[in-house]
This record gives sequence, structure tokens and C-alpha cells, in this order.
Amino acid sequence: MIGLTILTAALSAVFSIAAPSAGSPEKASYDEAAIKPYSLPDPLLTLSGRPVRTVRRWARRRRPEILEQFTREMFGESPKLPRRTLFHVLEESSSALGSKATRRQVSISFDGEWTDSLVLLIYTPNGLDEPAPCFLGVNFWGNWTVSTDPAILKPSAARLQGYGTKQIRPDRGASQSRWPLEEIISRGYAVATFYRGDIDPDFDDGFKNGVHGVLDKGKERDAESWGTVAAWAWGLRLCLDYLEKDPDIDEGKVAVFGHSRLGKTALWAGATDRRFAMVISNCSGCSGAAISRRRIGETVDIINYKFPHWFCTNYRKYNCREWDLPFDEHELIALAAPRPVYVASASEDNWADPKGEYLSLVGASPVYALYGYEGFTSYVPPGIEQPVVAGRMGYHIRRGKHDIALYDWLRYLDFADRFLK
Ligand code: GCU
Repeated sequence: MIGLTILTAALSAVFSIAAPSAGSPEKASYDEAAIKPYSLPDPLLTLSGRPVRTVRRWARRRRPEILEQFTREMFGESPKLPRRTLFHVLEESSSALGSKATRRQVSISFDGEWTDSLVLLIYTPNGLDEPAPCFLGVNFWGNWTVSTDPAILKPSAARLQGYGTKQIRPDRGASQSRWPLEEIISRGYAVATFYRGDIDPDFDDGFKNGVHGVLDKGKERDAESWGTVAAWAWGLRLCLDYLEKDPDIDEGKVAVFGHSRLGKTALWAGATDRRFAMVISNCSGCSGAAISRRRIGETVDIINYKFPHWFCTNYRKYNCREWDLPFDEHELIALAAPRPVYVASASEDNWADPKGEYLSLVGASPVYALYGYEGFTSYVPPGIEQPVVAGRMGYHIRRGKHDIALYDWLRYLDFADRFLK
């Protein structure tokens, strides 16, 4: 066990009588002083108790153990990627964004089975001598919200159905502040995105809609069956299959990123697919980058209550019992090793526990150290808007609320310049 704080046997006895919620979730706490002492599972100790001292042992033995635990106890088991994926360019123009970019809209489906395919929107910078490194992420409200570009196809009314309008009213360009396309393109990067509803609509319908409805047909669901976050991550991997074939993209330099629930998704995509060259989590919070055992802001109990479709049923065993988890989120970060990983928080995003997001990097650092990379050792996060990079890890806390803003993007671009250029 590594010690952020020390767990005592007595405390663990006290913890084990905390009752999981029935009917309504527990109340969130924001009180650092009330955090019970905890200790994080050691990413460098095998299940049989043997220390991991070499990269080989990490890669062959310990990493698969951790991956398996996250699969079984949290995200659920995803199907393999299809053997044959069909790509169809729906629309293409080399005069996008004031002729600075080429826009492609590609429909992706597989084995002729899935007629209801997803649409990947891609902008690649014009005039480069080489294929471009690329950022790939899911969007919340449909491709047409990421820019006012009138050529972006709008999802069908059926696809948009069921979505609230509380945060952003789905409308052309409505989430463009989260997608500074011109900036990304001018820095020499491509950017690709698809709408979450194209893979799995974000509501609990017993997994009948979306890709679950197609791939799970005729199969009984069990406690390890994949949830919606795993489905979105699977969709990102499917898109990578396409990006590998796009001549304008450098397939070895695709960074997977995401904000909030889609940040949790990016972390899981990076963990399950090592083809992603970089992993970026923006305000991913509970069940993303934040340490669950801190129980600050959103907890496992709350997330499972509010979003029963995001994770597998096994994850509910840990409602109000985070100390029983065989892992913690620092190990989700460690699954990215030795690839560059960036975690970002926002100062007012207490629901996502910014400090807990930072501490995951500290907890994952021993794995990066095994590869010879410096990491984060201080338990005190850096100040607001004082980004830090150590070895292959980056972190910042932006001033402001739960969001992905230009400030965040500029840090990701700087970070990518180090590793993907
Ligand atoms: C809710 C949820 C978070 C999630 C966020 C989002 O706030 O509780 O876990 O990250 O939505 O995706 O915006």
C-alpha cells in the first residue's frame, strides 16, 4: 500500500458499517477535514503480493490485473472491435475554416450490421507536409454544436431526442467555446469528434438503444456487462480504426481527450487501447481522474444513483464503500503509462474534486518512474493557472467553473507540442 494517509484496522471496521443508500443517494461532502484516513492500492504490487520492479513485470503481469479489475468492477466488458468496419465519406471540403482546413464527415459502421452509424467530423490543417497529429474526443450535443460551420451535418431529430437543454441548448455552434477549432488547426493539429448519442444515448433505457442494442442482441446482461461510458470509449476506438486509414492523419499521434463524463470516457479509451498516443482528462471528476476514497463532491453512490447506465452493475457494490474498491482512480491514470497523460481541473468544480484529480497523478507517478519518467510527488496541487509538466505528466487547475475552455486547450496544445510534434 502506498501512503497518502495511513489506513488503520480500526477505521476500516468503522467504514464497513456505513450503509449504502436506499432510494436516494448520500449527501455530498466538501469538507477536506472530514476525509477519513485512507490508503491507495499500490499499482506496483501484484495481487499475489509481489512487488513490481521492472517494466516487463508491470506490462505483462500487473497492468493486465488492473485492467481486468476496472473492466469487471466498474466499466464492464466491452466487445472486441469489429473485424470489418465500413467507412463512408459523406461530405468533404478543402475550404473549411477560411480554407485553413479540410473538413470530412465520415459515417462509420461495421459488418453491414449497423445501419444506424456514427458520424465522425474531422478537420485537418491544410498545407502541412506531413500527416497531422490529431485530437479525438466525443461531443455532448451533436457535431453541429461544435462550430457555426453551416456544412456540419445535424444529427437526426431521433438522435437528439431525450436530451435536456439545461446546460447547452443543442443548436448550431452552441458549444463552440469548447471547441476552438481555428486555434487547434493553426497549431498544426487535426481534430475529430462524434456525438455521444451516435454510439449510446445518454439515458437509462435498459440498454436497448445505441450500440448496446446492436451488439448485445440476444445476450443476457450480467453484473459485468458494459455500460454507457464503456460504449462511448469503444466508439472512440472504432474511430481510431478510421483515423488510421485517413491519409491526412498521423495514426501514431492520436490524443484521446474528453470533458467531464466524456473525460471519464477518454481515460477508459486510453486504458483499453494503447494505440492512443496521449490521454487527456478535462474535469473528469468522480469515476474519472478523482480519487474515489476521498469521497469529496460526487461519490460512487451518487454517480450510480444518478447515472445507473454509465457503469456495470458490479460498481454498485462500492456505493458508500469506496474503501472496498480493489483499485482507485490513480490506477486508471497508470494504465496510460508510459504515454503522456494530462489531467485538468477547474477551481470552482468542487463536485469533481480538483484535488482528488491531481492526487491521481501523484498515485500513478511510481508507474511512470518505472519507465524512467519523472512524475508528481508533492501532495499539494499547484496554484490556480500554474500549469505543471513533469516527465510525461501534465496538470493544471483553471480558474472558473466545470467546463473546457480555451485556457485548457492552450495547455493541451503546448503539452502535445512536446510529445506529438
Ligand atoms: C454530472 C455528473 C458528473 C459528470 C458531469 C458531466 O455532473 O455528476 O459525474 O462528469 O455530469 O458529464 O458534465
